[in-house]
Amino acid sequence: MDQVLKGQIAIITGASSGIGAGVAKSLALAGATVVVNYPGDSSKEAADAVLSEITDAGGTGIVAQCDVTNEEQVTKFFADVIAQYGTIDILVNNAGLQRDAKFDEMTLEQWNTVINVNLTGQFLCARAAIREFLRRGPRPDVSAATGKIICMSSVHEAIPWGGHVNYAASKGGVKLLMQSLAQEYGDRHIRVNSICPGAIQTPINKSAWETPQALNSLMSLIPYNRIGQPSDIGNLAVFLASDQSDYITGASIFIDGGMTVLESFAANG
Ligand code: NAI
Ligand code: BGC
Repeated sequence: MDQVLKGQIAIITGASSGIGAGVAKSLALAGATVVVNYPGDSSKEAADAVLSEITDAGGTGIVAQCDVTNEEQVTKFFADVIAQYGTIDILVNNAGLQRDAKFDEMTLEQWNTVINVNLTGQFLCARAAIREFLRRGPRPDVSAATGKIICMSSVHEAIPWGGHVNYAASKGGVKLLMQSLAQEYGDRHIRVNSICPGAIQTPINKSAWETPQALNSLMSLIPYNRIGQPSDIGNLAVFLASDQSDYITGASIFIDGGMTVLESFAANG
């Protein structure tokens, strides 16, 4: 892969598994130094394994613990990375989770947990990144933009999702967080975009692909007829972080094998 991100420092939140791990690997292959974030002790070993794969492939980076819902931890996390590397260039706001329930049975805890990680976590990390981009100013030797933020949204910022109302509301929130930031900081040459994945094979949706029956049923929602892989998202993240996408800001880019094309309308309507 071309070293289009050479010399740049990238933080990827929730990078010890799934899409975050795939994005960290792709950004590292493209030359970025990556910060593989994990939330707590139980995911440290997995984060170390992701970093080993990266360094074995010739990439560079570190692992760093931070719970993205905790303001103090986020402040310290960004300060430590900036102390070590001088600045950051790319934030991938990826950490996220589901706490599914029928709406009439959903607890406040299930609601708050999802909103805190998926939306408030993105707010805290985006704010820390933008503060650093504004402090540091342009770095034209490494990138045309002063800084880049990529928000991991979902097809469910557009497709309503009964049984997952907390999750869909969090991603709807991410959509306008992203767009409003792109509008507010465009004149400072800070680019903010969202990736909106469809079904990607990771631990978050294991029940949708772990049996042949489940996978078969999932295929009825995906015109392209395969489940996505973290590397699919990694490739798009490299593009959105690089100067090849320098005129793209405020965009939600769907990467879903056609899930949002509403296949059910193909034969009639
Ligand atoms: P995953 O469960 O493998 O990854 C989620 C990551 O977030 C984990 O590494 C977890 O440790 C981390 N995390 C959770 N709470 C955290 C916290 N408080 N602080 C820091 N990290 C925390 O699942 P996946 O699929 O890789 O999810 C990544 C992102 O992609 C999420 O935002 C999810 O909503 C989004 N997404 C996933 C899709 C899929 O089909 N897998 C589709 C659309 C969006
Ligand atoms: C969810 C997955 C789901 C996918 C497609 C994602 O946002 O996290 O569980 O498979 O959307 O519906």
